[in-house]
Amino acid sequence: MKADVAIIGAGPAGLMLGHKLVQAGIDVLLIERQSPDYVLSRIRAGVLEQVTVDLLDELELGDRLHREGLPHHGFNLADGERLIRIDLEELTSRCVTVYGQTEVTHDLMAEAPRRGLSIVYEANDVVLLDLESETPGVRYLKDGAEHIVRARFVVGCDGFHGPSRQAIAKTGKAYERVYPFGWLGLLADVPPCNEELIYANHERGFALASMRSPTRSRYYIQVALNEKLEDWPDERIWDELALRLGPEAAARITRGPSIEKSIAPLRSFVFEPMRFNNLFLAGDAAHIVPPTGAKGLNLASSDVAYLARGLIQWFKSGRRSGIDSYSETALKRVWKSERFSWSLTSLMHRFPEAGAFGRRMQVAELDYIAGSRAAQTSIAENYVGLPL
Ligand code: APR
Ligand code: PHB
Repeated sequence: MKADVAIIGAGPAGLMLGHKLVQAGIDVLLIERQSPDYVLSRIRAGVLEQVTVDLLDELELGDRLHREGLPHHGFNLADGERLIRIDLEELTSRCVTVYGQTEVTHDLMAEAPRRGLSIVYEANDVVLLDLESETPGVRYLKDGAEHIVRARFVVGCDGFHGPSRQAIAKTGKAYERVYPFGWLGLLADVPPCNEELIYANHERGFALASMRSPTRSRYYIQVALNEKLEDWPDERIWDELALRLGPEAAARITRGPSIEKSIAPLRSFVFEPMRFNNLFLAGDAAHIVPPTGAKGLNLASSDVAYLARGLIQWFKSGRRSGIDSYSETALKRVWKSERFSWSLTSLMHRFPEAGAFGRRMQVAELDYIAGSRAAQTSIAENYVGLPL
C-alpha cells in the first residue's frame, strides 16, 4: 500500500489534517486503532476558538457548526461570592463558539468517504518504520492480517498514549507537570444553569458549568485522584455543583440523570521537537493541556494549520521551509497555550499543598482581575485564542 502521507490516529487532529491534505490533492491514509462508534463516544471539551472555526470553514465543513454552535461573547470566573464576567467581545472584538468536540469529529468523519479521505479503523499493533528514510512506513494488523503502508511522510496524531511520540522519545525532550487532582464530568439533557460558562473557585474545589446546547449541560467538579466514579451517584455531583457554583447559579440548576460520567486526570505536557526526520507530531501526541480554558482541540487545530501549510508547500513546489519550521512555529503557540491553561488551572483549583497562603493568593488575584480591565483583557485575549 502507498500514500503520500500516512496519518496515525483519527481524532480531531488526524481528521482535520487528513481533510486539509486531501483538499489539496494529496493522497492520505488515516490509520485508527478504534472503531468509528468508539471514536464518536468520547466526550471531550466544547469551546472552539476562531482558529478551529476557520479551519472547518476552509474545509467547507462548518455548516452545522454555524447552525447549531452557540456564539459565546463572554464567560465568568466565580470566586465564591460573585461572578467576574470576562467580556470577550468588548475586550477583544472576538468570541468563541460552543460546539462539542464530538460533533466536530462527527462532521469530519461523516464527510471523509465523499471526499476520498481513506480511513482504516480497528487497526492494531501500529509500528512506525524507517523514519529516517524517504519511504517511511506504518505497519499494522487488521482482522489478523499484517499490512504495511509506505508514504513520503508519517504524521503522529495518535494522542498522548499513541506509538508515534514513543517511537522518537529518545530524540527529544519531554516537559511535564501532573496536577494532584482530576475532573469529574457529568453530561445531562437538562438546560444549562447560565447562558455563559462559569469557572468557579470554591473552598471545596473547582467547578465548571458548561453546555453543549440549550438543552444539554456539561458540568465538572475537581476531585481527588483516588476518587472512584461509583462513589459519585448523580445526586452527590449535583449537590456539590450547587455548593461550588454559588447560590445564584445553584438556584438555576436543573438536575437530571447523567448520560455520561467520567473522571480525567489533569496534566501539562510538551514534547520537543515535534518532528523527527520524516515523522511529524500534531495534537495530543505532542502536547497536553489541563482542560481549564479548553485549549486542547484548539491547539490541535493550530498544529494542523501550520503542518498542512508546510506539507502542501512541499508537495506542490518542493519547498522545505514550511515543514522545516513547523516544530518551532507550532511550539511557540503551544507554549503560550500551555502557560494560559496552567495559569487558569492554578488560579481556579484547590491545591492541597498550597495551604492558607496559597488560597489568599488566589483570592487576591481574583479580586485584582475583578477590578482591572488590563487583567481581564489578558485573560480574554488568551481565551479567544492567540493569532496563528
Ligand atoms: N494506533 C492507531 N490509532 C491510535 C493509536 C494506535 N496505537 N493510539 C491512539 N490512537 C488514536 C486514538 O484512538 C484516537 O482516535 O489516535 C486518536 C487520537 O485522538 P485524540 O486523543 O482525540 O487526540 P487529537 O486528535 O490530538 O485531539 C486533540 O482532542 O482528545 C482531545 O484533549 C484532546 O482536545 C484535544 C484534542
Ligand atoms: C466543556 O464544555 O466540556 C468544557 C468547557 C470549557 C472548558 C473545559 C471543558 O474549559
